Amino acid sequence: MNEQLSSNRVPLQLTAAMSFMALLAMFMFISQQSLAAGTFAADTTGVATAEVVTSERAEELTHLLLHDCGSCHGMTLKGGLGPSLLPEQFKDKNADYIKYTILHGRNGTPMPPWKSIISESDAEWLAEFLLSGRIVELNK
Ligand code: HEC
Repeated sequence: MNEQLSSNRVPLQLTAAMSFMALLAMFMFISQQSLAAGTFAADTTGVATAEVVTSERAEELTHLLLHDCGSCHGMTLKGGLGPSLLPEQFKDKNADYIKYTILHGRNGTPMPPWKSIISESDAEWLAEFLLSGRIVELNK
C-alpha cells in the first residue's frame, strides 16, 4: 500500500517539474521577445539593421539617387564621372557588392562613403533598387 503510494507520487512530481520548466521557458521566451521589441523601438539612430525602409524613406532614397548620386553617375545614372548604375553594370555583381560600395565608398576614387547618412537597410534597398532595373522605368 505504502509502496504503491510513493511510486505514484514520483511521476506526479515529475509532471509538476516539467510543467514548471515549460512555464519558465515560455516566460523566458516572452520576456526576450519584448526585450527585442524594446530595442527595436528605441533605436532611432538609423544604424539598426532590423530597421525597415518605409515608403517615405524609399522616396527620399530615390530622390538622393537621382540627384546626389546622379551628380557623378549621370542624371539618368547612365554614367558620368562615375560608371553607369544601370542593371547591365551589375550583371556579374551582387547586392552585397553594391551595398558595400555605397556604405564605404572607394578609397582613392571620387566615390565617397555614404554610411553617415545611409543606413545598412537603406543601402540594401538602394542595391536591390538598382539591380531591379526600376530606374529604367523612372527615366522614361
Ligand atoms: C563625387 C562623385 C560620386 C558620387 C556623388 C557618387 N559616386 Fe558612386 N562612384 C563614383 C566613382 C568615380 C566610382 C568608380 C570608382 C572606381 O573607380 O572604382 C563610383 C562607383 C560606384 C559604384 C560601383 C560601381 C561598380 O560597378 O563597381 C556604385 C554601386 C556606386 N558608385 C553607387 C553610388 C551611389 C548609390 C551614390 C549615391 C548614394 C553614389 N555612387 C554617389 C563617384 C561618385
